[in-house]
Amino acid sequence: MDKIRIRGGQPLKGEIVISGAKNAALPLMAASLLTEETLRLTNLPDLADISFMAHILSEHGVGVYLNGNAQGSGYSNRLVELTAGRITSTRASYDLVRKMRASVLVLGPLLAREGHAEVSLPGGCAIGQRPIDLHLSALEALGAEIELLEGYIVAKAPKGLKGAEVVFPKVSVGATENLLMAASLAQGTTRIVNAAREPEISDLADCLNKMGARITGIGGGTLTVEGVARLHGAEHAVVADRIEAGTFAMAAAITDGELELLGARAEHLGAVIEVLEAAGVTLRESNRGLSVKRANGRLSAATVETAPFPGFPTDLQAQLMALMSTAEGTSEVTESIFENRFMHVPELCRMGAHIEVKGSKATIHGCPRLNGAEVMATDLRASVSMILAGLVAEGETLMNRVYHLDRGYEHVERKLADCGADIERLKT
Ligand code: EPZ
Repeated sequence: MDKIRIRGGQPLKGEIVISGAKNAALPLMAASLLTEETLRLTNLPDLADISFMAHILSEHGVGVYLNGNAQGSGYSNRLVELTAGRITSTRASYDLVRKMRASVLVLGPLLAREGHAEVSLPGGCAIGQRPIDLHLSALEALGAEIELLEGYIVAKAPKGLKGAEVVFPKVSVGATENLLMAASLAQGTTRIVNAAREPEISDLADCLNKMGARITGIGGGTLTVEGVARLHGAEHAVVADRIEAGTFAMAAAITDGELELLGARAEHLGAVIEVLEAAGVTLRESNRGLSVKRANGRLSAATVETAPFPGFPTDLQAQLMALMSTAEGTSEVTESIFENRFMHVPELCRMGAHIEVKGSKATIHGCPRLNGAEVMATDLRASVSMILAGLVAEGETLMNRVYHLDRGYEHVERKLADCGADIERLKT
């Protein structure tokens, strides 16, 4: 298994092209099941999870044409053409779903298109139990009959789905996406109250509308979907990855460098902008993206609680903790979305960070120096937080289990090395 070796101390200087968002591309790919015509997605990131979703869709009979590879500094000009001319199977097997939870996003589209779907329960994951009850209750509100059989969700809607009002008791990105896709082909109108407002949701809604759906209220917490009889093919560019942009913004800050993040959009960063500015980082918008550097050389502590968009994203919590490990003062980070998302803490502490965890709150006592160490990646975002720490730590950091990283960051070591980081991937 590959490792990544970093020798800390180099301030990052230069520009990084922000790739298409993994968490937008995955539901967008699932949306191809809603039409027999071709859905063409461009600005597709070159990631393991994307290739895996392509494989899952091909198991349902979707024709997949994936081309182009990441060029140059990791900017991927990849595109995929997905044609679900005929669905050959409405069953998503445990063997596939357990490897990537986002596979559950085929449930809504299969049910809407075929009136039937059998999708394995995804099971838990490292960061939490992550149930899908909200997905199921939303589809039942549209008239689906759902039962659980031998670990599989068996959903039926032989007469099609009917529009309804669905009020989510808590914000769920995936449940909002499954419901949006299913409601697009339902008979009548669906109103989604307390919908997730993440930019990836808006990107999906924009693409569905290009396919002939009738979704209004995009970007807000209440979405209205007027069901149509069929959807047609379309072309759509995947929105830039706000989590990647936030990660590299913190890389510029932690190394006291200066980066231009090409394609990054300030309005997609929500509370991240205020939190970083309060910590002593300036983020200046340009027509090419975002320029990021420290305001006056110092980093100060922050107090943050993760929340649904536009709050501070849970997917940037681990990265912020690495940044705050080197700031002046004591920071507090509360993880309110997932129940077990502090696995990066023991690894950061092995690098010299002073972090205490009590329940869902971590207290970070900033220290002037981190030390390189051999560390273990545990989940996608925890792994990149160790890269951030390694970029500023004295000495060498060696990270194992790099496959976690490859799931969500497109050629991260190439993008960082192009900006002066002493980082390389060791093929073992
Ligand atoms: C999406 O996961 C993202 N994944 C996650 O990114 C992200 O952390 C999360 O949204 C929150 O922003 C993709 O988009 C592929 P949720 P999702 O449903 O949809 C609970 C990454 O690193 N919940 O918004 O699974 C759930 O347990 C990944 O890229 C229910 O209780 O997240 C969690 O506590 C990690 N019942 C909270 O809601 C449900 O039916 C938010 O989950 C669904 C969710």
